[in-house]
Amino acid sequence: MTITIVGHGYVGLVSACCFADFGNEVYVIGHTPSKIERLKNGDPLIYEPGLKELLEKNIKANRLHFTLEYPEAVSKSEIVFITVGTPPKENGEADLEMVFDVGKQIAKNLKKKFTVISCKSTVPVGTNKQIEKILNENRPVGVEIAVASCPEFLREGSGLHDTFFADRVVIGSYSQKAINLLLELHEPITGKKVITDLASAELIKYASNSVLAMKISFANLISFYCEKAGGDVETVLDAVGFDKRIGRVFMDPGVGYGGSCFPKDVRALTSTGNLLGINTSLLQATEDINQEARMNFLNKIIKYSGGKTIGVWGLAFKPNTDDIRFAPSIDILHALLDKGYAVKVYDQEAFGNVKKIFGDKLIYSKDPYEAATGCDAIAILTDWNEFKHIDLDKIKSIMKKPVIIDGRNIYLPEVMKKLGFTYYSTGRVPVTQ
Ligand code: UDX
Repeated sequence: MTITIVGHGYVGLVSACCFADFGNEVYVIGHTPSKIERLKNGDPLIYEPGLKELLEKNIKANRLHFTLEYPEAVSKSEIVFITVGTPPKENGEADLEMVFDVGKQIAKNLKKKFTVISCKSTVPVGTNKQIEKILNENRPVGVEIAVASCPEFLREGSGLHDTFFADRVVIGSYSQKAINLLLELHEPITGKKVITDLASAELIKYASNSVLAMKISFANLISFYCEKAGGDVETVLDAVGFDKRIGRVFMDPGVGYGGSCFPKDVRALTSTGNLLGINTSLLQATEDINQEARMNFLNKIIKYSGGKTIGVWGLAFKPNTDDIRFAPSIDILHALLDKGYAVKVYDQEAFGNVKKIFGDKLIYSKDPYEAATGCDAIAILTDWNEFKHIDLDKIKSIMKKPVIIDGRNIYLPEVMKKLGFTYYSTGRVPVTQ
């Protein structure tokens, strides 16, 4: 099958590489010449484990093509995917300008008798109907189209695995012909196939991300109780999670969620709900608690560091990515700098993005040891594996005072006690010496 993917972010590029790897002919359309050149040369532009190798393999096999031009790609394709960004506006609404603009470009360049236009960008319920209208207004006479919503559920850092081994493939469309083509394309993916209407497919994506965000905020809410009233949040949540109706996954408390999806999607669902006259206080509370988790962590640094030099381990919004969009680190670094702290930072992938925001205001370290040297306290913001296996005796010996404030609960309090650290984690009894 020949397909086109418009956009080459996490969703676009990962999908393109996976579909090409299944043996399809895949065109990827971008709009920045320098980026398209780099992609053609096998540079994925983002850090995603395994992506560079898959990109190089499929370019070499001549199945994966990058272009700035719509005509050569769209005119040959049976399916065209829209995977461009839907960033949040000031009021939380998803900004759909790019999606609609791409829809217009696709429409103008359609040549095949029948083409499926499928939106993988996360868009509010009702958007695909608007895309359909734009396509119909701009398509040449005599070509037929069908729209389909095909949301993407991949996580950054495990994007390839999540695509190849997806739990489910959701296809929303009113056209059986479109559903059949999309089923054929997704055939190698073994996950459950959910065939539904456009509105349900659009809602499935927001519902999935919002319920995951809610689980995290719920875990953080319980951690606040443990911190105020005593109790160990991990024990509480483990026991809660043994109930099969609840489960334990995605209930790790800490500094809260970030990234390009949860913060934006919870706000966008709230905004749609407000427009529809639905009570969205559950979603609003999810966002508020997430913000409180960041502030709670910041207050611990201020209260317990006992000095003005802080080492920060982990800046990416989660491990295995260089992405810092809406990361807790951004709020926390800004607040520490405003309060006059000297901040030594370390992250194995995110420096490029962090430097674009903070420039030389931070002290960049080549490894976690350098970031810890001479510090009054270390604050852990991302649960990179590297920090879990670190030589803590060495860390203790190079710090001014052995104080660790852990926003991801990566160490056991009893181990930290034995090692001689003062250790403040999330929702667990503090370790003092
Ligand atoms: C998320 C969804 O998981 C994915 O299905 C969707 O397609 C896109 O949005 P992603 O943003 O890549 O993926 O990361 P995810 O692994 O879900 O983590 C999001 C944030 O939640 C991270 O900041 C992470 O640290 C945080 N998190 C996750 C917690 O704080 N606690 C948890 O228990 C799990």
